[in-house]
Amino acid sequence: MKHVILIGFMGAGKTSIGKKLARRQDCRFVDTDLLIEKEQGCRISEIFEKHGEKYFRDLETETLKKLLSEQEPMVIAVGGGLPVREENRRLMAKLGMAVYMKASAETLYRRLQGDQKRPLLQGGDLKERILTLMDAREEIYEDAAQITYCTDGKTFKQTVEELNELILQESL
Ligand code: S3P
Repeated sequence: MKHVILIGFMGAGKTSIGKKLARRQDCRFVDTDLLIEKEQGCRISEIFEKHGEKYFRDLETETLKKLLSEQEPMVIAVGGGLPVREENRRLMAKLGMAVYMKASAETLYRRLQGDQKRPLLQGGDLKERILTLMDAREEIYEDAAQITYCTDGKTFKQTVEELNELILQESL
């Protein structure tokens, strides 16, 4: 099964680029966060608040398992923390090709300023939080991905076109 799975830090553009990329590849787009919110009938922030992070992480794993039964190729954007769990990385490998959308801490900081919907970024110093999480995750993203693409300094259009090309090449 060859889906394209977009991984990377919060604010990397997985959802916005993923939507456009799916249109470009004439396939469906899904976002694990949106699937979870739809199924639970509430926002991710509420899930964290009411049930805690572990509960949310289990929902992410369940969501990936469900996606295994989808036959049509899709572009799948996953939450920034999803690849951290080893089981999820195994599931992603079954689902298809992981593409790491990389961005520098400065770029992410610019994009994430004022964010109120991501529980892991609330309170404290945003830059510190970004750097700490990046430190813990960067290597995981790199290792899990078949393609690493740096979005720094790229326009939206450029990113979609270049990613599309890289994915086509990698699928040959
Ligand atoms: C998270 C990233 C979020 C969302 C949740 C936790 C993380 O998704 O899943 O807030 O741990 O990095 P995005 O990467 O789409 O923002």
